[in-house]
Amino acid sequence: MGFIVNYKIHIGNSIEQLSEYFAQLLNDKINNSEDHFDIALSGGSTPKNIFEYLAVHHKNTIQWNKVKFYWGDERCVPPSDSESNYKMAYDSILHKLQIPTSNIFRIKGENNPKLEADIYSSVVLNQLNSVNNYPRFDLIMLGLGEDGHTASIFPNQISLLNSDKIYSTALHPGSGQTRITITGRVINNASSVVFIAVGKNKSKVVGEIINQKGNYKDYPASFINPLDGELYWVIDEEAASRISQLNRKTQL
Ligand code: 6PG
Repeated sequence: MGFIVNYKIHIGNSIEQLSEYFAQLLNDKINNSEDHFDIALSGGSTPKNIFEYLAVHHKNTIQWNKVKFYWGDERCVPPSDSESNYKMAYDSILHKLQIPTSNIFRIKGENNPKLEADIYSSVVLNQLNSVNNYPRFDLIMLGLGEDGHTASIFPNQISLLNSDKIYSTALHPGSGQTRITITGRVINNASSVVFIAVGKNKSKVVGEIINQKGNYKDYPASFINPLDGELYWVIDEEAASRISQLNRKTQL
């Protein structure tokens, strides 16, 4: 699996501006899709801000009825738990847009993790078109941890990038919390992958990944490089502050 190569960078000056950019990107792709649009959502505070913005400013401008919602990862907790990525998305956007449950494919964090990882892999395999023998999401949203993790692929479990599973279990290295995560090959099989990262605390990891300097080879996010899809880095000025001028060339 190769390092990041072809990507587009959008650097915004606020979470509102980044959210608006993401909304336009999403709208264009949904409008150009055929019968429906398969998106995998991310957890994290940055995606939450974007969901809340979309629910307020784009309730009626995006064809949400075409969208089927999946998750890139989930914490192994009940859907009512404050840690649940499903709960975060439900409360911040899905409930507000009145998305029908038939279009929501929740990872059941309350189930046995290994069993649910296999069940959810089958759900995704059955629901999505397959290309290169892996399911193809139309768009996968990804956050970025300061340690270079994305979804729940952590540096100490970097082999999940090359797993032949579609979803696998993972352990948060700090809390020991069990997670269910999409694997690297499925991410890199997507039509579009959008990283969203904001804040000074992400500048080091973003800079090392984009510049391919420092510890980038230790970061799972460095290996997110869609085979024949588009890769976007949607970041604010603080997170972008250590990207070299040369590597800002692809800025949109
Ligand atoms: C999760 C996400 C995780 C998250 C990053 C960034 O379930 O928490 O999958 O990858 O996106 O840790 O989170 P923040 O945006 O909150 O920094």
